[in-house]
Amino acid sequence: MANAPAFVCTACGARHGKWSGRCESCGEWNTIREETPLAAGPGSRSLGAARGRAIELSDLSTTETPPPRTLSGIAEFDRVLGGGLVPASALLVGGDPGIGKSTLLLQAAAHFARAGLKVIYISGEEAAAQVRMRAQRLGLEQAPVRLAAETNLRDILTTLDAERPDLVIIDSIQTMWADNVESAPGSVTQVRAAAHELTGFAKRRGLSVVLVGHVTKEGQIAGPRVVEHMVDTVLYFEGERGHPFRILRAVKNRFGPADEIGVFEMTGTGLAEVVNPSELFLSERGTPSPGSVVFAGIEGTRPVLVELQALVAPTPHSQPRRTVVGWDGGRLAMVLAVLEARCGIPFAGLDVYLNVAGGLRISEPAADLAVAAALLSAREDAALPAETVVFGEISLSGALRPAPQTENRLKEARKLGFTTAILPEGGKTGFDRGIRRTAIADLTGFVGQVFGT
Ligand code: TYD
Ligand code: MG
Repeated sequence: MANAPAFVCTACGARHGKWSGRCESCGEWNTIREETPLAAGPGSRSLGAARGRAIELSDLSTTETPPPRTLSGIAEFDRVLGGGLVPASALLVGGDPGIGKSTLLLQAAAHFARAGLKVIYISGEEAAAQVRMRAQRLGLEQAPVRLAAETNLRDILTTLDAERPDLVIIDSIQTMWADNVESAPGSVTQVRAAAHELTGFAKRRGLSVVLVGHVTKEGQIAGPRVVEHMVDTVLYFEGERGHPFRILRAVKNRFGPADEIGVFEMTGTGLAEVVNPSELFLSERGTPSPGSVVFAGIEGTRPVLVELQALVAPTPHSQPRRTVVGWDGGRLAMVLAVLEARCGIPFAGLDVYLNVAGGLRISEPAADLAVAAALLSAREDAALPAETVVFGEISLSGALRPAPQTENRLKEARKLGFTTAILPEGGKTGFDRGIRRTAIADLTGFVGQVFGT
C-alpha cells in the first residue's frame, strides 16, 4: 500500500481518501490533487528498540548558553523575528507573488552578511544575473552574499555541505525538487520533501534556513501552509495591490511573540522601513467625514492607529451587500446584529462597506467599537468629533469590554495629536495627560452619547 495514490490538498496539505471539489479540512475549492506519496526506501524497516543504544540525557541546567541571535539591522525585520535571527532556526516567509518577498530577503541577506554571517541566497526562480541586477537596484551589489540559481536539492545540499554558511535563503520552496521523489516540482509531496530535507539539514548543521513560499491561488502548486508545521517561525508578507505599504507579520514564532508586525514601504530602491506606522496609516486621512473613525489598535507589541472607513447606502439588490477589506466579515455581521438587536438600529435594506485604510488587516476584537462607530457615523451621515480615537470590544449583549493595553493606545493617540478617546468603562475617566476619556458602558449608551439618538 505504500505507493497507493493519495489525494492531497495543495492549500493545507490535508490527505483525503478520495477526490472532492472542496477540501473538508481548510474549505478551499479545487485544491485537491492526486499524488503518489513518498516511496519507502529499499532499506527502510520499522524501528525497534532492541538494537538501539540508550541515548545520553543531559540536564537542562548544565547545557551551554545558546549562541546569541544576530540582528540584521533592519529593525522592522528583527522585531518580527522576536529580536533577531536565532542560529539553526528554520523560517518560512509566505506571501502573494509579486508582493516583495525576494526583495525583502535579498535586503535581509545583505544585512545579515554585513553583520558577519556567511549567507547564501539560492534562487530557483531567477538566474544569478537577474538576482545580481536586483541587488544593484537595491544598492547592495557590494554585499558579501553568495548567489546561486539552482533547483536540484541534492546539488544544493552538496554546496551547503562544502560552503558551511550560517544562513541560507531558498527562493522559493515551490521551485525545489528532490530527485528521489517522484512528483512534479511544486506538488505537495515535493514541497514537503524539500522542506523536510532543508530544515533537517539546517538543524543538524546549525545553520539557519529561510524558505520563501508563494501563496498560490490556482491549486496546482502547493501553498506555504503545507510546510508551516516544519519550521520554527512563520512570517507572512502582506499588502494591497496599488498600495506601497507592506506588512511582515509573524503568525507563528517559537522564538518570539506571534502577531508582531513590521511595516515597510516599497520604493523604487527596495523596501524602506516605516518607523511610525500610525503616521503612515493616517496619512491619507482628510478632514473628519461621515463613516471615518480612527481606531487605536495594538499590533504585536506596538500601538498602531488606523482609519476605518464605512459606507452605508440603500441597496438596489434583494440581498444587501456586506463587503469588508482588512477585517473579519463574521465580526462585521456580529456588530451589525448587536446594533440592530440591542440598539434598534436596523441595517436591513442597506449595503455596508467597511475598509481598513492603508492595506492593514486587523484582527483585534477591540476594533468592534470603532467599527460600530464608523457604521453609525456613515448611516447617520454624521462625522465623529475631530481628533477622536475609538476602541473597545462589544459583547453580544451590547456591553462593552475594556481592551488590553489601554494606556499604550492612549499614549500613541496623544503622540499623534488626538485629544479625545471613546472607550469602555473600567478605568480612569475625564481629562488626563492631554486626552479626554469618554468612558461608555454599553452600545446603547454610545449611540446616545455620540450621536444623540
Ligand atoms: P519581488 O520581491 O520580486 O516579489 P516576490 O518575490 O514576492 O514575488 O517584488 C516584485 C515587485 O516589487 C515588482 O512588482 C517590482 C517591485 N519592486 C519595487 O517596486 N522596487 C524595488 O526596488 C524592487 C526590487 C522591486
Ligand atoms: Mg520572488
